[in-house]
Amino acid sequence: MYLRNRIIWHFGHGLHAKKRFSGRYETILWFTKSDDYIFNLDPVRVPSKYPGKRHYKGDKKGQPSCNPKGKNPSDIWEIVANDFDSCLWDIPNVKSNHPEKTIHPCQYPIELIERIVLALTNEGGIVLDPFMGVGSTLLAAILHKRKGIGIDKEQDYCKRRLNLQKI
Ligand SMILES: C[S@@+](CC[C@H](N)C(=O)[O-])C[C@H]1O[C@@H](n2cnc3c(N)ncnc32)[C@H](O)[C@@H]1O
Repeated sequence: MYLRNRIIWHFGHGLHAKKRFSGRYETILWFTKSDDYIFNLDPVRVPSKYPGKRHYKGDKKGQPSCNPKGKNPSDIWEIVANDFDSCLWDIPNVKSNHPEKTIHPCQYPIELIERIVLALTNEGGIVLDPFMGVGSTLLAAILHKRKGIGIDKEQDYCKRRLNLQKI
């Protein structure tokens, strides 16, 4: 297995620890089995900081100096929701008053999984989450025309998975 990225998902809110520093990030490890792997950058690009910036000298003088489709979101994922000027994808964790919140204690936000699904799989592909909780991963997969397979040891979570039938 080849480690392609160690992604830090940073969020501003969470449990307030008393006997250690409060945790404010989770790590996503992206491995591939070989050098032949899927990476779709365009669907997950974020707006460039200076989208109209142009080369001011050399052969490319006057041409755009950054990709007009936006820039690579980097391996640190953060959020200010819908703040396109910030260039960050700020994805908050699912808090108790969030409309997505279910009985699951550590549910991941669908937006977080959506970015992974879009970048690392193609339409029609299969996304497996062997620790699916209430099924955020399956929902993200179906929303983007992939197939989803989920497993969880807790029957209650499987029964109360997010309402996939409605999609
Ligand atoms: C962090 S939560 C999953 C969050 C979920 N993937 C999401 O996107 O919201 C981890 C889940 O793994 C399940 N789990 C833990 N050990 C397991 C095992 N040995 N087999 C299957 N599921 C397991 C737990 O019941 C829990 O729902």
